[in-house]
Formats: sequence, structure tokens, C-alpha cells
Amino acid sequence: MDMQISPSLLAADFARLADEAASVADVADWLHIDVMDAHFVPNLTVGLPVVAAVRKHAKLPLDCHLMIADPDRWAPEYVQAGAANVTIHAEAASAPVRTLRMIRAAGARAGLALNPGTAVEPYADLLPEIDMLLVMTVEPGFGGQPFLDLVLPKVARARDLITRYGGEVWLQVDGGVSEETIGRCAEAGADVFVAGTAVFGAQDPAGAVEHLRRSAQDAAARKAR
Ligand code: DX5
Ligand code: ZN
Repeated sequence: MDMQISPSLLAADFARLADEAASVADVADWLHIDVMDAHFVPNLTVGLPVVAAVRKHAKLPLDCHLMIADPDRWAPEYVQAGAANVTIHAEAASAPVRTLRMIRAAGARAGLALNPGTAVEPYADLLPEIDMLLVMTVEPGFGGQPFLDLVLPKVARARDLITRYGGEVWLQVDGGVSEETIGRCAEAGADVFVAGTAVFGAQDPAGAVEHLRRSAQDAAARKAR
């Protein structure tokens, strides 16, 4: 299994987004952009114009995580703005199947995110509609929160559901992912890792990405033995 790292710009210097994106361009797989609307989550970040602007300067594909109250209305516009992946929250979408299909029809990968308190089992039938399942390992809204170990059994159950389904669905974790926690995520079955503080809070963001990837690979290899 390929281990992918998606550094979250939420922990970057918002006044220097192009430089921050460039600092991980040669080592990361994606650039994670956290869109928050102060309704679905109690925080406000960036929206369409900033995604479009980052698209012009960043080499990496954009992984847009929509923490907004009306993803059905806005998700396709993030594809137009240049996102290569658009993830919507199950708790916010009123017509997830339609919205996920619109994301794909617009030409991007479609992701479905679950908060820590949302069970994965009710979404098993949606796996054919998505390219990535995001299991949140903190309550969404802020960077720098402590990792919630209580979510790990759900990550493992999500991996089982994906294996049983048999299709190609990536399993992403987001929140508190660090050198200390990434191994547990990989052992539970995650293969795409969002990291904000652990990357952009480090002296050497590119080095941090490489370390994180190696730790994930080591943990997955240990588990396979
Ligand atoms: C939280 C966001 C995360 C956040 C993670 O709601 O979805 O992407 O940037 O930040 P860290 O890695 O610092 O927990
Ligand atoms: Zn995120």
C-alpha cells in the first residue's frame, strides 16, 4: 500500500502560502486546504478565491477538505477552482450521493469525511461513490489539537469495510497526526495522512514529510509481518 502525505496549509503562514506550498512540493503527495465557514465548525479560514490562487502557484494537487454547512451547494465550485480532491462531511451533506457524483462528474476525486462521533458502518453502501474516506482524528475546526486514540478502532473497521468492498478507496486520517501518532494510524489501516502542525510547525517541513512517510511505511510493514 502506498503511503501518502497531505500537509495541511492550516498550520502554514497564510501570508506566504505560495512559499509554504513550495517548501513541501518535492516530497509531499497533496496539499491539504481546510475550508471552514464558521457554521459547520466554529472557525473561519479560506474559500474559493484562495484555493484558486494557491492553484496557480502550487505544484502539488489540492486536497480540499470542506468543513462547511452547505457542501451540496459549494463542492462542485471547488473543483472549478482547481481542487483535485474535494472531501465533504457526511454530517453536513443533505444529498451526499448527488454531491459526490457532481464532484466526480466535474473531474475531481470525491471524499467523504466522518467526525469522531460519526459511525462508519451506515456509510458502507456509499463506498462505490467515493475515492477517499476521511476519518477525523480530532473534532474538526482547529489545528494543533491532541490526537484522539478512541477513533483508531473505527479506522480499522473502515479498512475492513473497504477491503470487503474490494474497490480502490483511500483511507485518510486528519488531526493530531505526528511522528508520535502516525504509526498507530498506519497500523489501523490508514494510507493518506494529513499533517498540519507536524509539517509546517517543523523547522524543516520537507524533512518532516519524509520522516512521517517513513514512520507510516515502517508501521505498515511491521503489521504485515
Ligand atoms: C482540523 C483540520 C486539519 C488540521 C490538522 O479541523 O481538518 O486538517 O489542519 O492540523 P494538525 O495536524 O495540526 O492537527
Ligand atoms: Zn483537514
